[in-house]
Amino acid sequence: MADLPKAKVAVLVSGTGTNMAALLYASRLPGAPYEVVLVASNDQTAGALKLASAEGVPTFALSHKGMDRADHDAAMDTAIRDAGADYVALAGYMRILGDGIVGKWAGRMINIHPSLLPLYPGLKTHARAIEAGDSQAGTSVHLVIPELDSGEVLGQVAVAIQPDDTPETLAERVKLAEHQLYPRILGEYVSRGYDADHLHSQVAELALALPETEERTSHGAPAFKIAGKSGKFFAHFSDRHHGVQHIALLAKTSGQDELLQLIERDPDTFFKPAYYGASGWVGIILNRADCDWDQVAHWLERSWACVAPKRLTRLRKAAAEF
Ligand code: GAR
Repeated sequence: MADLPKAKVAVLVSGTGTNMAALLYASRLPGAPYEVVLVASNDQTAGALKLASAEGVPTFALSHKGMDRADHDAAMDTAIRDAGADYVALAGYMRILGDGIVGKWAGRMINIHPSLLPLYPGLKTHARAIEAGDSQAGTSVHLVIPELDSGEVLGQVAVAIQPDDTPETLAERVKLAEHQLYPRILGEYVSRGYDADHLHSQVAELALALPETEERTSHGAPAFKIAGKSGKFFAHFSDRHHGVQHIALLAKTSGQDELLQLIERDPDTFFKPAYYGASGWVGIILNRADCDWDQVAHWLERSWACVAPKRLTRLRKAAAEF
């Protein structure tokens, strides 16, 4: 889908930057879901900076030497924000980032690591894999969390270890795999807010966390109801139905007045869905740049409370007041 807004990505590097180059050139293919808005480094001499400049990408460099970790992280963070980035991709950034900056970018910072995580976090991954007699090495793209190389793995590629491999020859082949993996996984990750399967699983997780709920199909689409034979539906998941481009959650309002008020107040979020709108259901648009998941959770809960038996709503109210 070429007309989706492109995510803005800052790439952090310390060295040659072949992964940065792979990310950058992939971003210049037609329909790429992201663009590189900054290449930043803790080393002014990093080859990656030269390449980025030659390609017209803004760069930022600040040596960490003699600097406090938190101060250095903060300066990087400022440069990243000034560049307007929505995501940070670490590509051979060899500085450990402190909890402060990692927390600020939670869910929006990803890293590539040259091993099949959870094997071999940290350094010297290739030498350790060869020494262990492993038949394969590889690379992982993962979310960054405060624990080193431990965030959720988003994608991996295995690379066969050959009998005469040295850490250097292996590293070279692993990089070839990395150059394929990283752009693909970054692209998928920044696009997930427009992906129906991802949005459905997010909604399902929230809906099924409410008491005594179950997922069922209604008119051929996923929907959520109070469990049991007589349980009523409280939410529908609508994937571009009836000619609209929205992927949406349909939730109950108190009626036409509220429905129309919501749409008037925030037409980027709410719409009147075909058929369901007539009986007071509102559409909440999910496939947009900044879907507010707290708001989605709020509407799911409200809608659930409209149809849940008193026994359940009373229990939930008591628990909330407790
Ligand atoms: C890559 O192999 C990357 O996985 C690794 O550094 C290399 C950078 O190469 N990263 C780490 O070891 C992070 N702990 P590049 O500068 O050519 O992209």
